[in-house]
Amino acid sequence: MNHTVDAPLLYLAPMAGVTNTVFRRMAKNLGADILTTEFVSAEGILHRNERTRRFLDFVPAERPLGVQLFGADPERLGEAVKAVCDWVAPDFIDLNFGCPVNKVVAKNGGSSLLRDCPLLAKVARAVVSAAGSTPVTAKIRIGWSACQINALETSRILAAEGISRLAVHGRTKEQGYSGLADWQVIDEVARSIDIPVIGNGDIDSAEVALRRLKETAVSGLMIGRAAMAHPWIFREIKTALAPTGAPAGVPLRDKWAFICEHVRREIAWWNGAEEPAVKSLRARLMSYTRGLPGGARLRERLQKTVSLAEVEDIAAQHLETCAAGEEILCTAAAGR
Ligand SMILES: Cc1cc2nc3c(=O)[nH]c(=O)nc-3n(C[C@H](O)[C@H](O)[C@H](O)COP(=O)(O)O)c2cc1C
Repeated sequence: MNHTVDAPLLYLAPMAGVTNTVFRRMAKNLGADILTTEFVSAEGILHRNERTRRFLDFVPAERPLGVQLFGADPERLGEAVKAVCDWVAPDFIDLNFGCPVNKVVAKNGGSSLLRDCPLLAKVARAVVSAAGSTPVTAKIRIGWSACQINALETSRILAAEGISRLAVHGRTKEQGYSGLADWQVIDEVARSIDIPVIGNGDIDSAEVALRRLKETAVSGLMIGRAAMAHPWIFREIKTALAPTGAPAGVPLRDKWAFICEHVRREIAWWNGAEEPAVKSLRARLMSYTRGLPGGARLRERLQKTVSLAEVEDIAAQHLETCAAGEEILCTAAAGR
């Protein structure tokens, strides 16, 4: 396939607790083309829940941006979509048919709909109709379990109901996040329907990204965990796609500057409530240190941090320790 560097190709995967407006903007600066909110409950929207409302926060610079919704009742979802379009006018609505979490599946939401094709069709139909001129996209897993892989069927249904683009995570619901994503099924889906298919699962370096683009018929790539730990992956992929480009890493000093800026912006988003903001970021800060020299010691310290000053201190000490060595370049591949 012929991919140009400028094509909207790279999607930041929606990730609950990770891809809020602060992180999305930072990922976009590093080359993510299309952003989606983390998943939002249709019921939360309809109950005008304040926490849910926060999930819809975004700024114009994030466009094109999609709001991802989950639910199981076609009518309620339709009402929620109308409310969301009214409130924030997203560029698209994304339907979550992939979430494996028990709390969601128990209410028939997320991946549960993959084993109920008639209901899947009804939900898609209701949402496409309620969204009017706003495009509706969807994200699926390849099936419920290894013996119920039905992505060819669910994707055909969704395309027929007017879904305009489909992201396929190459795992089953039962796999959760274990095992490997099945890119053969993703490729089969991409070849079998005539809407764009975005491949998702285990893209953790520019090299893997390029291989997937070369070997499959996907129109784009969606990246989750690797972007969480190393958001420069988007830039690395774009550089690798450019005619002259060998992917360059990010200097350690710049990585720490980014981490501290992330903390600063998160505190601002929490209206200055520093301690809860930093605590909410701890797991993220720890994942940023994957692949860094002395990573285990860094994680031990970051696990307890409550302030920006502490993070800045940890950064300064780490840079000082590492200054003895040659300039360190961090890449997505190094953080695997
Ligand atoms: C912490 C976390 C939260 C996630 N939340 C969502 C979500 O809200 N909506 C969704 O469709 N997928 C969610 N996912 C799944 C990711 O979007 C993605 O499909 C999955 O991580 C596989 O891609 P990867 O191998 O690039 O990480 C989440 C994944 C993680 C790790």
